[in-house]
Amino acid sequence: MTWIDAVVDARTPATPEIALFDLAPVDGTEFASYTAGSHVDVDLGSGLVRQYSLCGPPEPRRYRLAVLNVANSRGGSRAMHALAVGDRVRISAPRNHFPLADTHSHVLIAGGIGITPLLAMLTHLERVRADYVLHYSARTRSRAAFLDELSGNPRVRFHFDDEDPALLLDITRDLGDPRPDTAVYVCGPDGFMDYVVGKAEALGWPRSALHTERFGTNLTTPADAGQAGFTVRLASTGTEYSVGEDQSVLDVLLDNGVDAPFSCQQGICGECVVRVLAGEPDHRDDVLSDAERADGMFTTCSSRAHSPVLEVDL
Ligand code: FES
Repeated sequence: MTWIDAVVDARTPATPEIALFDLAPVDGTEFASYTAGSHVDVDLGSGLVRQYSLCGPPEPRRYRLAVLNVANSRGGSRAMHALAVGDRVRISAPRNHFPLADTHSHVLIAGGIGITPLLAMLTHLERVRADYVLHYSARTRSRAAFLDELSGNPRVRFHFDDEDPALLLDITRDLGDPRPDTAVYVCGPDGFMDYVVGKAEALGWPRSALHTERFGTNLTTPADAGQAGFTVRLASTGTEYSVGEDQSVLDVLLDNGVDAPFSCQQGICGECVVRVLAGEPDHRDDVLSDAERADGMFTTCSSRAHSPVLEVDL
C-alpha cells in the first residue's frame, strides 16, 4: 500500500457526535479524483487503520470525511476525533467498493452515519440529473448530519425515530416491490442494514440490485468462528501452508514471508483480495459482491475454506 501524507485542514462539527474532517495534501500536490461511494484508509498510528467514506464532491485539494464518535469505539473514531487542525495523517488512495450502478433509477437508503457515501452519490446523481430518491433514517434531527444540505431537496425523505411514527422508514412502503433498471444502495449500522436488506429481499428484490457497504462492527473473525483449520496452496509455487482455526489466510501468508497485500484486516476494504483457483471458499467478508465471489474473488484476511485445501492465485 502506498500512503499519502495529508494534513487536517479544517474540522467542523456536523452534529454533537459527528465531526467533518477536511484533509489536504501536505506538499502542494493534488489528491487523486474519485467516484461517488469511494473511501480512503486512514492510518491513525499504532497499527490502527480505519476506512472512511469520502462525502464531499471530488476536489483536488480536499478530501472530506464525516466521522461519528462511537461510544464503544475500538479506537478508530476516538483517534480520529482526537485530531486537530494541523495534525498529519497518512491516507490511502481512494478505493471504491460501493460504486453507483449503471441503472436508470437509484434508491439510496441511509441509517445515521451511513449517509456519508450516499451523500457523495446524491451529489453525483444531482449533477447528472439522474432519477433517484434518498431515504435518510436517524434517531433525531439533532443527530443527523448534513440536514442543511438535504432539507430543501424534494427527493429526500427524512425518517426520525422520535417524530411522527407514521413517517418512520417502512421498506414495504418506501422501497416497494422490485422495479426493473433500479439499484438500491444501503449504508448504516449493522442492524439497520440487516433490516433493510432482509425486508428488500422479502419483497423480492434480487441481491444483485442491492448494494451495501458497512464499515464493520460485527464481522466474523477466524478467532470467533470456531472452525477447523485447512490448507492454503500458492498456485505459483505449489507451496502449502496450514491455516489454524485461530489464524487467517493472511496471517499465515505474512508469517511465511509471502508478499500479500492487505489493509483493514476486517474484510471490509478489499485490499487483500486474491483469486481462488481451486477449493470451496467460505466467504466472511463484507466487501465482495455475489458476482465477485462467483468470479473467484476471496479476502485472505477474513474468509476461510469449506474444503480441506484452497488454492489461491499467488
Ligand atoms: S485487508 Fe481489507 S478486506 Fe482484507
